[in-house]
Amino acid sequence: MEGEKNRILVFGGTGYVGRYIVKASVSIGHPTLVYTRPLNSQTPPSKTQLCNDFNSMGVTLVQGELEHDQILKVIKQVDIVICVLAYPQLMEQLKIIDAIKVAGNVKRFIPADFGVIEDRINPLPPFQAVLDKKRNIRRAIEAAGIPHTFVSSNCCGAYFVNYLLRPCEKIDNIAVYGNGDTKAVLNYEEDIAMYTIKVANDPRTCNRVVNYRPSKNIISQNELISLWEQKCGQSFNKNFIPGEEIVKLSETLPPPDNIPVSVLHSIFVRGDTVAFEIGEDDLEASQLYHDYNYTSIHQLLDIFLVNPPAPASAAFG
Ligand SMILES: NC(=O)c1ccc[n+]([C@@H]2O[C@H](COP(=O)([O-])OP(=O)(O)OC[C@H]3O[C@@H](n4cnc5c(N)ncnc54)[C@H](OP(=O)(O)O)[C@@H]3O)[C@@H](O)[C@H]2O)c1
Repeated sequence: MEGEKNRILVFGGTGYVGRYIVKASVSIGHPTLVYTRPLNSQTPPSKTQLCNDFNSMGVTLVQGELEHDQILKVIKQVDIVICVLAYPQLMEQLKIIDAIKVAGNVKRFIPADFGVIEDRINPLPPFQAVLDKKRNIRRAIEAAGIPHTFVSSNCCGAYFVNYLLRPCEKIDNIAVYGNGDTKAVLNYEEDIAMYTIKVANDPRTCNRVVNYRPSKNIISQNELISLWEQKCGQSFNKNFIPGEEIVKLSETLPPPDNIPVSVLHSIFVRGDTVAFEIGEDDLEASQLYHDYNYTSIHQLLDIFLVNPPAPASAAFG
């Protein structure tokens, strides 16, 4: 007989990646808690609506600041902590690590990685600085002896497909970063969330790195554009932006605008999401969970064809 489900606490659950994680956790039947900054008259209506939706789904909303005593009290009540705080708050995770260490009851902590495998790549300096923070958090977790999993979810597929192809806009030209032949891993956000909940509960992934690299989601920009042309019956002109131009932008744009271009360079020019072979000692999500029917990039484009998302912003989390 299946035992009681682990209680999952999500920091940043109202954010872009976080809302998918919360929904996945609830859908699998985990008692789910979201730690969120206090709601007040300044809170955007969209966040208030999301919090109401969470309430209706049975999520327990805990309102508070990222302050030791407040977070310790909540952490003591849960088994798993998943953090999807925004990039500027990455170092705030040190407070969460400290509280988890003091509490002593948490079976697994997943910090705000959700991107490339930062310990194995060397991108342009502005992105490197972001990854340095994520690396520092990893080392702090290891030093604290907290049971953890580091996830490399690669690109959020809906976000990047929307950014690259702009399906809801009437366009004739598509920007291509580099020569367009470099492969990248684009995973649908719902799958990233579902894999993360599976990984968080899995004894095999304790104190390990898990890469999300399903074979049907590895694609180049040129292949993606061809596929999209077939599906929507339109041809697009490609505006190639050479790698050197992107490097120059990363050197001349002021922070934080120099970060997104450095991310594009890492993914689509350097090919950092496929920079190394998955070896026998590496864990990969679609191999760990064969039975899970993930959404392929073909299927994601079909979803976009029927239901184009809102226009993409140029910002990255
Ligand atoms: N691989 C990819 O393609 C990809 C794409 C996007 C993000 N990511 C990664 O996913 C993680 C989460 O990013 P995200 O874009 O989902 O984050 P986000 O939407 O920008 O923000 C997540 C949450 O952080 C909290 N937050 C925001 N500002 C704060 C502040 N000033 N003080 C305290 N809390 C604050 C908010 O939660 P409350 O309002 O509820 O407190 C917010 O909902 C990051 O590690 C990011 O690098 C990866």
